[in-house]
Amino acid sequence: MNVHNELPEVTSVHWHGMHVPPVMDGGPHQPVPAGGSWSAHWVVDQPAATLWYHPHPHGATEKHVYRGLAGVFLIDDELSVQLPIPQEYGVDDFPLVVQDKRFTRDGRLSSRASLGGSGILGDTVVVNGTLAPYLEFTTELVRLRLLNGSTARTYDFGFADDREFALIGTDGGLVDRPHRTSRIMLSPGERAEIVVAVRPGERVVLRSTPPDLGGGLMDRLSGGADTLDILELRATDRLAPRPALPERLVEVPTPVAEGGETREFRLSNREINGKKMDMSRIDFAALAGATEIWRVINLDGVPHNFHAHGVSFQVRSVDDAPPPAYLQGWKDTVYLRPHVTYELVVPLPNHRDPDTPFMYHCHLIAHEDQGMMGQFVVVGPGESPGVVGHRHHS
Ligand code: C2O
Ligand code: CU
Ligand code: CU
Repeated sequence: MNVHNELPEVTSVHWHGMHVPPVMDGGPHQPVPAGGSWSAHWVVDQPAATLWYHPHPHGATEKHVYRGLAGVFLIDDELSVQLPIPQEYGVDDFPLVVQDKRFTRDGRLSSRASLGGSGILGDTVVVNGTLAPYLEFTTELVRLRLLNGSTARTYDFGFADDREFALIGTDGGLVDRPHRTSRIMLSPGERAEIVVAVRPGERVVLRSTPPDLGGGLMDRLSGGADTLDILELRATDRLAPRPALPERLVEVPTPVAEGGETREFRLSNREINGKKMDMSRIDFAALAGATEIWRVINLDGVPHNFHAHGVSFQVRSVDDAPPPAYLQGWKDTVYLRPHVTYELVVPLPNHRDPDTPFMYHCHLIAHEDQGMMGQFVVVGPGESPGVVGHRHHS
């Protein structure tokens, strides 16, 4: 990947969900100066998935992502290409980058933060950068790869007529089997792959209805009362047949904790475990190849979520209960209902690099920019974290 920075300021490009060595991760430690370039290379070594990339400059990520810098990475693999699921790009398989914007009366993009403290909540949705979007398609089944590329808003996606669809993938790849549902909630950074059946000539609206953010009356201020039309699907009068979805999709291994620590992450007040992000502080070192348990809790009454770089994890429990279908499979971002404990099983990469950290943070990007972020390194046995530089960009 060759990244050229055409912005008038420093940025960086992070591959969200990709298993890359930390020096290729594109976090705040890999700045790309204005007019400069950066090239990243790695071997793709993970299952078929819908991933994405976006700028990640220290303290200024919200601005860049809100202005539309977000793109999708589609990975397939030997198994996925053989499955009888829609996978013809632009024919029956479409990535949808969903972002909300707010425009001033004279049509300029407004970056005014909304009252609830989540960041910028827009009242206008753009999909793949398009206003009032519709999608014409020609097949009986359509696969939509939904990315919540918004900086603050959580969506609860479904169809205007409440029809069922099949959830076939989450952040890190395909799930074990299609799960029938009529709603899928995605907080900023999360993805879902869904397959929906349509009839010839019909029009159906993909719509977000009020998500249950878990914070009671406060949710209204975080977009919890909003209904937004996302996209209109327009079926042509004749639709090419598609086979029914298979009963099973892929084997998703269930990782077990092994050789690693159990850690707690308490999110509150724009801090994690009482600390704000410091570029020169490593918050912990994890053993390469180990599988850890991370217990994550949002102690505020308002929305947060949790994302980690460089890994995919599985949600083992939600307040000690098994996770719902939409939290199954490999994840890298998870919504945190206030005061609920999410237990994650986190296999760490095999490569050690004590000097270059991975980030973990709230993916409500204003919060991340305000310091709700930390750093970890992956080390070999007996190795301690190195020293990471504090870089000033101006
Ligand atoms: Cu998409 Cu550090 O995030
Ligand atoms: Cu990321
Ligand atoms: Cu947050």
